[in-house]
Amino acid sequence: MGPVSTPSSDAPSSPRRVHLVHFGCQMNELDAELVVGDLARRGWGRTDDAAQADLILVNTCSVREHAEEKVWSLLGTYKPLKKRRPALRIGVLGCMAQRVKGEIARRAPHVDLVLGTSSFRRVVEDLDDVERRGGRIVRTDRRPDPDSLPDADREISVREHRHRAYVTVMRGCDHVCAYCIVPFTRGRETSRRKADVLAEVERLAADGVREVTFLGQNINTYGKDRPDEGGLCGLLEDAARVPGVDRLRFLTSNPFDMTEDMMRRFGALPKVMPWLHIPAQSGSDRVLARMKRTYTAAQYREVVGWARRHVPGVEVTSDFIVGFPGETDEDFALTKALLEETRLVQAYVFKYSVRPNTLAARTLEDDVPEEVKRARNLALLEAQDAISEAANRALLGTVVEVLLDEPSKTDPARMSGRTPGNRLVHVLAGGELAGRLARVRVTDATAHSLRGERVEVEPAPRAWTSSR
Ligand code: SAH
Ligand code: F3S
Repeated sequence: MGPVSTPSSDAPSSPRRVHLVHFGCQMNELDAELVVGDLARRGWGRTDDAAQADLILVNTCSVREHAEEKVWSLLGTYKPLKKRRPALRIGVLGCMAQRVKGEIARRAPHVDLVLGTSSFRRVVEDLDDVERRGGRIVRTDRRPDPDSLPDADREISVREHRHRAYVTVMRGCDHVCAYCIVPFTRGRETSRRKADVLAEVERLAADGVREVTFLGQNINTYGKDRPDEGGLCGLLEDAARVPGVDRLRFLTSNPFDMTEDMMRRFGALPKVMPWLHIPAQSGSDRVLARMKRTYTAAQYREVVGWARRHVPGVEVTSDFIVGFPGETDEDFALTKALLEETRLVQAYVFKYSVRPNTLAARTLEDDVPEEVKRARNLALLEAQDAISEAANRALLGTVVEVLLDEPSKTDPARMSGRTPGNRLVHVLAGGELAGRLARVRVTDATAHSLRGERVEVEPAPRAWTSSR
């Protein structure tokens, strides 16, 4: 018998495949989806195996040094792949592309595309260019025009989750928290037109999405640059009227741009889920002042108090940084006291990481030793875990509402979903119930999730509206 011929991988009949890795925040997850959508329109498929890919894209994060280190080592593993298959194309997108483009050229010459936070949607066109002309393309333009943000014309059929979706409503941040790289990588606040956001929500809802989470680095000032659009509350009020949308969420809310009146308006909108992510960062006024957070610990407590007063059933989550320059044992004790007193349902805790060119990097010495940072990190996480576990255990035996979203990653007999307060629940249910709301009795609770049994499930998708 002669050799069996198999179609070569570049035959037009076999679609080219992209392997995509993303790091960092929810916006990065969505940005990666936007790019995969653009490629899908051109007939590209996906692969989980970098060695099988025709194109590898890495959407990067610069918020801590560790996130950047992971990207450097990943890029190193792609070198032999490219050597074996010179037709392989590699792209670095997002915050690191914006921040260290020169270094990428030097340390990773096998990278073909370097596209920053305003340019990453150009993958398809730039790839064509590289194929035609060879060489590499580097784009790190600052956003040229607020009407051409990289969110336009999203391919909504390409989504990780069928029944919930992220929608970016603004990019960038006008604050300059001393530790934060985001204003450098993502630039000034720029809001999308409300009509564009609502049109995207309508298309997503028509495609089965019931829960929409609006994203922005400092979302409470959405629309500051578009004074006629009605701000975040106006956007939520209009989005709540989109047929098929049951649940709305948004993040990140910073304490300094939150008002009591906004809380009242969130509380008056039943479709706005009672969950607010409000990073505290520290409980010490001295540290907060050095961080340029412009609020005190007392003001943070007040903001949480407004939420609890005006948003029925609200759950607040937070971020903390330990080991910021000059943080003493006494400062840290104040942070721990804030965490223990506010008893938030969940908090992320990060060790301070120096980010080049930030105010803190330029003016403050990174003087808290690594082992002290580690010990404070652990102490805060332990304290938070105890609070989270108690909060979850308090729900044992009660009935919560869950939007059954996707198969549980840990138990094939279960579907995972979220309560209105954004707690993760693994429910005994089969995949045929995806997209339904269910009333669920909580049977087990750990610090990070709940397990439960169905009491009642919507008879057909969208037969109920979410209640809180
Ligand atoms: N408002 C932004 C914040 C991005 S960074 C958003 O939500 O998109 C997310 C969190 O990372 C911050 O709230 C902060 O707690 C932490 N963080 C930011 N810069 C940091 C740094 N240099 N070192 C350690 N943690 C940091
Ligand atoms: Fe960063 Fe502070 Fe803005 S944490 S994203 S500079 S509000």
